Amino acid sequence: MAGGAGFIGSHFVRRALEHGDDVVVLDKLTYSGNRANLPDEVEFHQGDIAEPADVARAAKGADAIVNFAAESHVDRSVLAAEEFGHTNFHGVQVLLEHVRESGQRLVQVSTDEVYGDLEAGGSSKETDALNPSSPYSAAKAAGELLVPAYVRTYGVDAVITRGSNTYGPNQYPEKFIPLFVTNMLDGEPLPLYGDGKQVRDWLYVDDHCAGIEAALQQGAAGEIYNVGGENERYNIDVADLLFELTGADRSLLRRVDDRPGHDRRYSIETTKLRGLGWEPRMPFDAGLRTTVDWYRENRAWWEPIKSGEYREYYERQYGARLNTSSPA
Ligand code: NAD
Ligand code: TYD
Repeated sequence: MAGGAGFIGSHFVRRALEHGDDVVVLDKLTYSGNRANLPDEVEFHQGDIAEPADVARAAKGADAIVNFAAESHVDRSVLAAEEFGHTNFHGVQVLLEHVRESGQRLVQVSTDEVYGDLEAGGSSKETDALNPSSPYSAAKAAGELLVPAYVRTYGVDAVITRGSNTYGPNQYPEKFIPLFVTNMLDGEPLPLYGDGKQVRDWLYVDDHCAGIEAALQQGAAGEIYNVGGENERYNIDVADLLFELTGADRSLLRRVDDRPGHDRRYSIETTKLRGLGWEPRMPFDAGLRTTVDWYRENRAWWEPIKSGEYREYYERQYGARLNTSSPA
């Protein structure tokens, strides 16, 4: 399991352990990787997916590799894009070279953001053209494009999943939902980008993991599977649900300058993965409640994060924008 110390990867690891699987994790422990997300008993290797020796060491003896490792945040890719090419593109190539030799199955965890903006309506199918907008999604698209090329050229056994915006416990508080929840719990301003009418399709983390598991166990080599919550919401409506759950004061909401290149809407079709018996199960209100409760009860997890490197990032990302913001 690569990137297993991050948000989605750590939930997938716990799920695999519950199913009685042996799990080995390779993770670089970047700012978003956290050893504390994983149970102590998991075999853990700190290393880089872009380093062939690190991959060979951790993957020895495994039946399959599931790759969660990535630079995962769009806003960070707008500030500094280089690392995104290293991990999201080159790292995937190193993993493909590894499975080309070893014959292991690879699941490349990708994102619905590779389809780009769907402002005009409709939903993206797996066969649709890729049209990524940010350095993050472009690097993810470049990485996943290597997968069908390696399947076709070398006959490797690899599949791709494209998940939608995921939320739940253990998500690094730079992303929209955990940033808003933790700021609400602390009475801090809430930076809403632009008009707040961007649409994301929210998927609970366990449902995302179940979709990846279905693709791992039943997906055909070279195939792509969308994993979506079929739960499209305006950002401002998600913020309102979070106000209800946290009881925070609505005056904390600030309208700040929009993200450059911001995609207005994502939406994906999930018929193909449903064909493998998968469906999203968590209702949005219950998933948000579980998430808010988790952040309320686990300050010891996120308070140290928010006082470290995060502070510097937050100041660069939001300092000037919050100073010139207006009430939303
Ligand atoms: P995350 O940032 O929480 O975790 C990423 C993990 O990868 C961290 O543990 C980090 O230390 C590790 N990592 C980074 N670079 C590495 C490298 N070079 N070698 C080894 N490990 C490295 O991200 P996440 O939200 O859990 O996302 C996991 C995957 O799911 C990513 O590939 C992301 O593109 C994809 N995805 C995320 C979402 C979402 O909403 N969070 C939605 C769809 C797809
Ligand atoms: P994010 O969690 O960064 O996911 P992505 O950009 O990959 O979809 O953002 C989700 C939505 O929330 C997106 O439309 C941007 C918006 N957003 C804000 O309005 N304010 C914020 O502080 C953040 C982090 C995101």
